[in-house]
Amino acid sequence: MNIIDIINKKRLNKHLSYEELSFAFNGYLSKTIEDYQMSALLMAITINGLSYEETLNLTKIFIDSGETYSFDKKVCDKHSTGGIGDTVTLVVLPILASLNIPVAKMSGRGLGITGGTVDKLESIPGFKINLTKEEFLDSLNKNNIALSSQTDNLVPLDKAIYALRDVTATTESIPLIASSIMSKKIASGASYIVIDIKCGEGALIKTNNDAELLSKWLTDIGSGFNVEVKTLITNMDEPLSTSIGNALEVLEAIEVLKGKDTKLTSISIEVASLLISMYENIPLEDAKIKATASLKDNSAYNAFNKWITSMGGDLSKVKVSNKILKLKTNKAGTITKISALACGKLALKLGSGRLTKGANIDYSVGIKLLKNVGDNVEVNETIADLYVNNLDINLTKEDLNIYKIS
Ligand code: URA
Repeated sequence: MNIIDIINKKRLNKHLSYEELSFAFNGYLSKTIEDYQMSALLMAITINGLSYEETLNLTKIFIDSGETYSFDKKVCDKHSTGGIGDTVTLVVLPILASLNIPVAKMSGRGLGITGGTVDKLESIPGFKINLTKEEFLDSLNKNNIALSSQTDNLVPLDKAIYALRDVTATTESIPLIASSIMSKKIASGASYIVIDIKCGEGALIKTNNDAELLSKWLTDIGSGFNVEVKTLITNMDEPLSTSIGNALEVLEAIEVLKGKDTKLTSISIEVASLLISMYENIPLEDAKIKATASLKDNSAYNAFNKWITSMGGDLSKVKVSNKILKLKTNKAGTITKISALACGKLALKLGSGRLTKGANIDYSVGIKLLKNVGDNVEVNETIADLYVNNLDINLTKEDLNIYKIS
């Protein structure tokens, strides 16, 4: 077997066996296959696709490349393909925990315009995010929630391949996205998984067609590994919540957990209900009633507090910047759009995200949107507060394009 024949086979759109995929991908991890050879294979896969059998085999190769988690009970997990103002995890996990449904999740940091749950939780002073396997299991037993920053040992092959995909225009291959996501979810040990596929200008998946396709791949891979997967497709043309920025998003999640009804509330209830209905084997409508009640009667908020405190976090110390720039309208009219992409870019510029891996971020900065689509505004009216670390920040016209007013 040699790598050139394998690349050539995929270039000609032929089927690759488990052995051939393993030779190429495990060889890449062990550095017997070069970057340029794997890049060529990834591009051939991106252009010609993978069959269901190839995708299952690749997912297995990914999973087997590192350590896996298993539990003595069935647990839930949720995943989002990445959005702006996506704080859903911080609301869904406590809803489930309050209903005695265990949830175990490995989370990542944000890169580029989409924030990561790990960064959001790190904006809570003292919160311990890197858990050992023992601490992870302990938190699951004590709090019904285990959340840790993804270890280097969990699917190391995906980490290596993802970094290469990022710089070779091969991130958008649906079977590669599906096997990347599902390998990490299956290796994390969940039995019930909900995947929120973000679709729109601020997301990796831009069209509904691709979102539907990805949804099918994710559920099919789940069936292949005996894991129940449900997906939802949510629009990412607009931010998911009114806060964009790490500490601001934590504070908004707390408001929702205390019963405030916002856009973040409805999507969180939707995700939580899918998991509740799978776990308890009850109709979705009944699951929705339970999820909604846990937000109204404070039980989700209490579960959140218990979890954060037991991980060493001090919610009273979550800090947003006290330097606030008022973003004002330059014309009167009706707000017709709030752009997720522009919000993400602006938040990144303010310092709430990172352009390169390992870059420092400022947890205290971000955007608080004060108006909704459909609102009428006057000229010179404040439509957003920008929490900044430097009041002299140079805002360009493009930065201010977060609202469209007609
Ligand atoms: N998220 C992942 O984990 N992998 C992808 O390929 C895309 C989004």
